[in-house]
Amino acid sequence: MKIIAGNWKMNGSRSALAEMQGALDGIKTENRVILCVPFTMISGNSGPAAIGAQDVSMHSHGAFTGEVSAEMLRDAGAKYVIVGHSERRMYHGETNEIVRNKAEMALSAGITPIICVGETMEEKDAGKTLEIIESGVRESVPSDGGDVIVAYEPRWAIGAGITPTDDDIAAAHTLIAETLEKMGRGGAPILYGASVKGANAAQIMSIPHVDGVLVGGASLKSDDFIPIIMATK
Ligand code: PGA
Repeated sequence: MKIIAGNWKMNGSRSALAEMQGALDGIKTENRVILCVPFTMISGNSGPAAIGAQDVSMHSHGAFTGEVSAEMLRDAGAKYVIVGHSERRMYHGETNEIVRNKAEMALSAGITPIICVGETMEEKDAGKTLEIIESGVRESVPSDGGDVIVAYEPRWAIGAGITPTDDDIAAAHTLIAETLEKMGRGGAPILYGASVKGANAAQIMSIPHVDGVLVGGASLKSDDFIPIIMATK
């Protein structure tokens, strides 16, 4: 069983989501399929894919105009939430500490956080990839609470049509698994994300410690998303 999570980013509509759920109804898989969609699409839909959000407030309630709390996400029906996606880190200044606070809020509402870590091109070129990954996990993943999922997303490969080598993905995932183990979170699923598509999904998911994938662009259309789900049944 693998976890196949889609990240729709700021794309889609309620009818597109209903259409995707309908298409997913037609396939047979043991994999856990999750669709992380914009806030407005969370409530009122049904289908085989569990629904997740793409961000959550680090505050519980109150005077935070524009924010959505973990309790509100739970109330709307979200089971998962992506936290610390590189686009949030890049455009909204989210630090590991903020990401951990958000993950803690999700856990306290019974929502599973999908916590993203990964290096920029600059950090990769400076030979800092493993250091960034390890500190990202140590500082972003809450040490206790319910289940978490970690996603390794090399930031330079997101939406770029390129991926790290299999050996580099294996090294990153092994380090994340070892770090989680030391934190008492051994066995938490670790997803790979960045430029996953039907043509590379089976190979990527055969790498040790890759428990599934987090898919951006190729999760928007069922013709692209279903082959990724079916790459490993
Ligand atoms: P991509 O995005 O699949 O379009 O590279 C991945 C992500 O941002 O989660």
